[in-house]
Amino acid sequence: MKQIAKDIWTQDGDRIRFHGIPFDTRGVIVRLPDGTLWLHSPVSPTDERVAEITALGPIAHIIAPNLIHGAYTEQWAALAPDAKVWVSPLFPRKHADIACYAVLTDEAPPDWAATIDQCHFAGSKAIDDMVFLHRPSDTLIITDILQRHDPTREPFLWRMIKGAFGIMAPGGRVPPDIRMSFRDRDAARAARDRILSWEFDRILLPHSVPVDTGGKEFFRKAMSWLDQPTP
Ligand SMILES: [Fe+2]
Repeated sequence: MKQIAKDIWTQDGDRIRFHGIPFDTRGVIVRLPDGTLWLHSPVSPTDERVAEITALGPIAHIIAPNLIHGAYTEQWAALAPDAKVWVSPLFPRKHADIACYAVLTDEAPPDWAATIDQCHFAGSKAIDDMVFLHRPSDTLIITDILQRHDPTREPFLWRMIKGAFGIMAPGGRVPPDIRMSFRDRDAARAARDRILSWEFDRILLPHSVPVDTGGKEFFRKAMSWLDQPTP
């Protein structure tokens, strides 16, 4: 576990494969002003990882930020039966079997609105991403739409492949397959523009190397494809 700033941490999880592609996993933990914890995409819960988190406070919220981030949701919900499970708008389509407290919207619920803002990055039926802003630390949290994998973690072949797709740090961008799935560019542009209206400097990415500073400019450049003509 790594402390990023006051009341925000990341926790490294296992390296997983999705459609054969290796991904690092990393959860984000925010401690809200009332002392409770907000878990974004928590990783595979080993005893050690659970102990690290519960030492910070009681778990109040578990966030499944997009339709494919449901792998450990139920395990964490079982570990924290009083926690509320919040999911992205597309999540129930893929995980109708996973019980949730509520579906997230563009408006942060009163539970964390004073600390965390949120925006549904809509426009694709294949992927959706709830993007969050932890205001006290000027930190943006994006899940899958923006990727910059860690070259020190990749074997040669994957370094080459991910490099060719432009998703290797220190670069990074929206992977081409995800771009192509955004058919409703107006919705995606509206989300992009709303996020750009926020103040942030750092970006945390659950599968990727974080952007420690200059995150707003990084995000602006990474989303400039939305201004190009639709193919
Ligand atoms: Fe993911």
